[in-house]
Formats: sequence, C-alpha cells, structure tokens
Amino acid sequence: STQKLWGGRFQAQAESWVDEFGASINFDQLMADEDIEGSLAHVKMLKKTQILSASDCDQIISGLKELQEELHAGKLKFTVENEDIHMNIESILTEKIGPVAGKLHTGRSRNDQVATDFHLYVKNRLPQIVAEIKTIQKTLVSLAEDNVETIMPGYTHLQHAQPISYGHYLMAYYSMLKRDVERFEFNMKHADISPLGAAALAGTTFPIDREFTAKELGFNDIYVNSLDAVSDRDFALEFLSNASILMMHLSRFCEEISMWVSYEFNYLELSDKYTTGSSIMPQKKNPDMAELIRGKSGRVYGHLIGLLSTMKSLPLAYNKDLQEDKEGTFDTVKTLLPALKVFNGMISTIKVNKDNMYHATENDFSNATELADYLATKGIPFREAHGIVGQLVLKGIETHKNLQDISMEEFKKISPLIEDDIYNELKPEVAVERRNSLGGTGFKQVKMQIELAKKDLN
Ligand code: ARG
Repeated sequence: STQKLWGGRFQAQAESWVDEFGASINFDQLMADEDIEGSLAHVKMLKKTQILSASDCDQIISGLKELQEELHAGKLKFTVENEDIHMNIESILTEKIGPVAGKLHTGRSRNDQVATDFHLYVKNRLPQIVAEIKTIQKTLVSLAEDNVETIMPGYTHLQHAQPISYGHYLMAYYSMLKRDVERFEFNMKHADISPLGAAALAGTTFPIDREFTAKELGFNDIYVNSLDAVSDRDFALEFLSNASILMMHLSRFCEEISMWVSYEFNYLELSDKYTTGSSIMPQKKNPDMAELIRGKSGRVYGHLIGLLSTMKSLPLAYNKDLQEDKEGTFDTVKTLLPALKVFNGMISTIKVNKDNMYHATENDFSNATELADYLATKGIPFREAHGIVGQLVLKGIETHKNLQDISMEEFKKISPLIEDDIYNELKPEVAVERRNSLGGTGFKQVKMQIELAKKDLN
C-alpha cells in the first residue's frame, strides 16, 4: 500500500506533478473553517448515537478544536500530497492525536463532506452580500431624495425620448437591486440544506443521525435523497446566476456613469477618489472604477457558464469534475464584495450637474409627446395629433426652432383649441411633474417610491 489516506489497494505512487494536477488544497483551504465545523458536528453525532465511544469522540473533539485555533492563528500548514482540505485536516489531526483520528471518517465520505463544506461556504457569504446590496440601496434612496426634481432627458435607443426625474432613474436601479436581494435570499433556502450523512452516494449502515448534524451546523433542511445530496451543485449555480444578474445591473449603471461623466454629456462628476489620471495626458480623469465593475461582470458570467458547462453531462453521483465548482464560486465572492463596496463609495460621492441635465432637455424635441397629448385632450384623435406634431418637429429641425418657440398664431392654425397654457405644458419640469400615473416619473410618484423604499429598508 502507498502513503495516501486511501492507499490500501495501491501499489504504485503517482508522480508529484500528477498529484499536483489532482489536488484542490491550493483553493479549497478557503473552506477550512467549514470543514472543521462539519467534522465537529459529525463526531458529536457519532458520540450521541454511540457509534463511537465517548472517550474516542472527546479526544477527536478536543483535537479538532485545537486545529480550529491553530487555523485562526494562521498556523496550519497544508500539503499537496494530502490533496484537499478534507484529507489535510484529517492528517493533521492524526499527527496531533494519533490513530484514533482515523475513527472520525466513520459513516462519512469526502463526497458528503465537500458538499457540506461548500453549502456552508455559500450560505455564510450570502448575508454579507445582501448587506452590501442594501447599503447601495440606501445610498440610491438618499441620492434620489436629493434629485426628485432634477430633470434629465430619458432615453430609449439612446435617443432623447421624454424628460424624466433623475430621482426616478435612480429608483429604477433601487428596484432592480431589491429583486437581487430577493434572489439571494431565495438562494439561502437551497444553500441551507444539509448533505451530511449522504456518505459516498448511498447513505450508510451506521445508525447516524442526520437531523442532529444538520441542527449542529445550523442547516434549516436536509437532503432527502443521498444521490442528489452529493452530486448537485444547483445552489452554487443559483448563486452564480444571481451574482451575474446583480453584476449586469451594476454594469449598466456603470456604463451610464462612464458616458455621463464624458465631455459630451457632463451630467455627472466622479470624486477624485474613484477616478484615475493618465500617465501621458495631464488633463485626464478616467472613470476606471466604473469601467472595472462593468468589466468584472464578464468574469462573473464566465464562472456561471463555466460551472454549467462542467456539470452539463455529469452522470450521478459524484465525479471529480465537481472539484471545478469551487474556484469560480470563490472568485465570484472575491469579485462581488469589493465591487459592491467600490460601487457604493463611487455613487455616494457623485456630483450631479443638475443644470447640464436640465439644459439637455431644453433644446431637443423630448416635449413632443406633451404637445401630442395636449392636442388629444382637445379632442383630436391621438394618431392624428401624433402626425401633426411629427410635421412640426420636421419643420422645427429645418428652421432651428423648438416646439416651445412656435408662436400662438402658428399654433392656432393647427387647431383653434390650442391655448396659452400650452407653453407651460411644454416645459420639461412640467412635463415630468404631470406624469403621475402609477410608477411614472411624476414628482409625487417618485416620492411615493422613495417612501416605499424607506419602509422596505427598515
Ligand atoms: N477535493 C474534492 C472536491 O473538491 C473532494 C471530494 C473528493 N471525493 C472523491 N471521491 N474524490 O470535489
């Protein structure tokens, strides 16, 4: 037999570079805490069910607790020879307490062990991510409060469409993030199921108590099918999918920041703290952080597609391919948390050039719908009104005149029903204020969204 923990039936030893290829310790040591917690729960169960003697269990428990302290003190040394975190922990425990450590793996497999660790890992990070998103939501609400009456062009197809409130724009992202929070909260339901006790794939003949270990580890539920428990990673796929959608939302906002801080738009200005200069062009102030968040969304999508592809054709139950589940997921957490923090810092220090936003709505035809609506309220069928205004726009473009520059005399030629109040209704701020249908950009509606959001966040 060879030196390996599972070396009994082996005669030849793998070359070290083969071991290196198969090992996961370089990344799965991130789950060392979860692994020790899982082992503690398992051995406590072995004690309670009297599968092992109390004294054996107590030795293992105190050994594991020492390991835990050494881990937190940064004293544990892992080796590639021991392949992964599970066997590293077991072999360090053996060094510490001797052969009794070998009893820990009774009624358990690395397959349910790794699944347990990975569930705990995802489960433990979800609340941090939700908290970071909520911080951003609070920032958006307070920015929106300052900008209910900030008028800007609303776009479709990146063309001026209708004027809107910048606060309304901000609250749109608030709502997207609210669903992101809900998605991560739902993700918790599936990360919160205990695979422990599924053993290798088929359960075990030992009279284990899965309810006990699940409770010890704080799991809310238990996998009822052992094959499912060790072979699915849908909770991680949900996490990656939720992370991808969240990054997509942030990325769209960042794209708009990048455009809106440009010379051509000049709607926003970023704080020096979230921008960078150029090594050659002294005048530059680049929105690097916004671009990087936009860029990192691609990386997170990659991890989602990576794991989906890895799992696509895997037969039940465990296959070593599943070891590929971890790096992308870890990297997603490592990407997400700082991205959320930077995003929040960046938007909470943003300067809004309200005048520039407003001016952009003055010299366009984004009040064309207003005029058409006005004619419609005077009894002209909307389709006909649309045609009339379209012709006025065409003429306006030729003569460099906006709709509000048309004289009353000219208006009367279109319809004698047009009155002086038309000039007021063509003002962008009036156009915005009056859009008070539910969920519209009218000031009252935006204030209502803000009130709802504040209630939500408390
Ligand atoms: N390092 C492995 C993984 O990450 C642990 C489970 C290994 N099980 C096995 N039968 N090879 O998936």
